[in-house]
Amino acid sequence: MKGYIDSIYEIIGNTPMLKLNRITEHYGVKGNIFAKLEYLNPGFSKKDRPALEMIEAAKSSGSLKPGQTVLEVTSGNTGTGLAIVCQAKGHHFIACMSQGNSMERARMMRALGAEVIIVPQGKDSVIGQVSGDDLKLVEEKADEILKERNAFRANQFIQDSAYEAHFKTADEMWNQLDGEIDVFMDILGSGGTFRGCAKRLKEHNGDIQCYAVEPKNAAVYAGHAIVNNGRHQIQGCGYARDLPIVDKDYMDGYIQVGDEEAIQMTRDLARLEGAFVGYSSGANVSAAVKLLKELDRDINIVLTLNDSGLKYLSTDLF
Ligand SMILES: Cc1ncc(COP(=O)(O)O)c(C=O)c1O
Repeated sequence: MKGYIDSIYEIIGNTPMLKLNRITEHYGVKGNIFAKLEYLNPGFSKKDRPALEMIEAAKSSGSLKPGQTVLEVTSGNTGTGLAIVCQAKGHHFIACMSQGNSMERARMMRALGAEVIIVPQGKDSVIGQVSGDDLKLVEEKADEILKERNAFRANQFIQDSAYEAHFKTADEMWNQLDGEIDVFMDILGSGGTFRGCAKRLKEHNGDIQCYAVEPKNAAVYAGHAIVNNGRHQIQGCGYARDLPIVDKDYMDGYIQVGDEEAIQMTRDLARLEGAFVGYSSGANVSAAVKLLKELDRDINIVLTLNDSGLKYLSTDLF
């Protein structure tokens, strides 16, 4: 057997599954939470998966030409995955990112060979809180650069390959848990993880219930009003806008998580489980604990721990 890999992207995926025994015990809830350690991917987030799938699909369909520049609007994680994949496959990569995201991500993408364009936030915006309006400004800038540089836009928000990458995530979950899954939940960014995992898990077993997790201030899929301009601290998700790749048919329920709850749970994950992750991972686990409290039944919930806590050392998370 070959004992090495030829390119770093070959180790994307196949992440371990951790049962959060200490969290469920600490919160005194019945049932189990299984967390897929996606922050152990080479770019330290689950977004390595769609990055690889989008580039491979675009190369094989011919929509990405050999040597063509790739561009993406990113909160940093998809960009990190794309930087890794593009470098290995011979494409220059440009990341367009809001100033509101933590700067570790920009530094990391640059170190990985990417060109990073930071787009200033709107008038009333706050660093560390990227609103839908901020994202619109990034989109406008990206459109400009796309034309100037004749680049290929990876476009995680609309590409089928971005959610299809997570069929594999779901298959891994299914195999790791021997199909013993009652609930899947995920906080929505592009909605790619939710759509891919929910679709595939329901193909395995139509009884699996899938919950969309959203920040309290930006719970648009749950049908709630947007509060405080949709601002929140859970980076990488909750843009309070329509997500083209999300299919509401896969949503069996909705859970909202506030900033403070997400932050507390992120700290608990580090302290109790040794899982050093970011805000959105805390949000997912916080949502799971809420559901277990409400249902008070011995069920198995599966979710992803999305990215590494190392990406937030410049924030007040830790
Ligand atoms: C830290 C983090 N959490 C959650 C998400 C949301 O994942 P998805 O785009 O699959 O909905 C992202 C997306 O970039 C992210 O960076």
